[in-house]
Amino acid sequence: MPTRRSTRRLHQLGFQPPAIGEDEIAAVTETLRSGWLTTGPKAALLEERMAAYVEAKHVLAVTSGTAAMHLALLALGVGAGDEVITSPITWPATANVIEHCGARPIFCDVRAGDLNIDTALIPELVTERTKAIMPVDIAGQPCDLDPILALGFPIVEDSAHALESVYRGRKIGSIADATCFSLYVTKNVAAGEGGLVATNRDDVAEAIRNMRLTRRGGGSHYDQVTQGFKANLADVLAAIALVQLDKIDDHAVTRERQFGLYDEGLADLAGITPLTRDPRDTHALHLYVIRVDAELAGADRDAYQHALSEELISTSIHFLPVHTLTWFRERYPDQPPLPEAEKAGDEVLSLPLSPAHSDDDILDAVDAVRRVHERFTA
Ligand SMILES: Cc1ncc(COP(=O)(O)O)c(C=O)c1O
Repeated sequence: MPTRRSTRRLHQLGFQPPAIGEDEIAAVTETLRSGWLTTGPKAALLEERMAAYVEAKHVLAVTSGTAAMHLALLALGVGAGDEVITSPITWPATANVIEHCGARPIFCDVRAGDLNIDTALIPELVTERTKAIMPVDIAGQPCDLDPILALGFPIVEDSAHALESVYRGRKIGSIADATCFSLYVTKNVAAGEGGLVATNRDDVAEAIRNMRLTRRGGGSHYDQVTQGFKANLADVLAAIALVQLDKIDDHAVTRERQFGLYDEGLADLAGITPLTRDPRDTHALHLYVIRVDAELAGADRDAYQHALSEELISTSIHFLPVHTLTWFRERYPDQPPLPEAEKAGDEVLSLPLSPAHSDDDILDAVDAVRRVHERFTA
């Protein structure tokens, strides 16, 4: 594809700015005026509407995706001495919450194409201590759930990137024992902070309901019936999420167009390859991740990131493999190498993507990658 223009940007292009407008501002104002600052009718409405959206029996709103995963694991009885098989290509929270339960994360290598857990490798990691499996839907591509379901363990799915995703005709949120979403500022439905657990299991929903907020009511005669946390979502944040949910289909159209601009604009660059997307599934188009093959692209990922930053294009890395981070490395010196995850950790680069960006913004990013590539491969 010919470059559109050769000029550089004059202003920094943000990586994933939230697409917040007057509707969200009005919803916050209305909520503040209603007097409900903490969990109230907006959080209840968000749960109801999200349950319909992800086609799950229950949705519980909590303070973060991290809290969603933590409470989901506890609800499924994960505790001291247990093992939970998970992916190393994720935000560290996925492994941290396993630790918070007193359990050990067992990292399974990923597939080279989409960086989701390699299900063929899971059986050899199963031991008598295995309590659950925690796959991740990276960038919005659902992990391969059928082989995981076939193993018969409870599944807590980290779907922080995958609110709109569909796996082989089934909505993400309707399949695993617990599916956890994030409402963090960069996410497709952004409230700033927040999380959701979707489940079809009454016992899981009840356990999370009890844990996220010590039961109130009954005057001063309250009681606590399970381990207690403070993880209820405030109505002000739920109000923002509700407006964002109203816009989810419009935003998906924009994301699809932005993915198309990148696909087309970068297709002929040697050594620059986007993660694969399975045509059998609906991808949430949360992150546009390229892999930079240093040999073919003339320089490594870090050099590309630096050069793009000089072009005023913000990028990010999703993700550095969790097992290579200092705390996990020191805690688990017996961790075997995970070659695909480690290679990916050196090569992945996420490009700007947001409904707040114009097509010209994305074309600026495309042009910048092309200019940098031309320079590195000259
Ligand atoms: C894959 C993944 N899992 C979990 C989380 C944690 O979500 P939160 O920030 O809402 O706690 C994030 C990022 O925010 C994420 O990207």
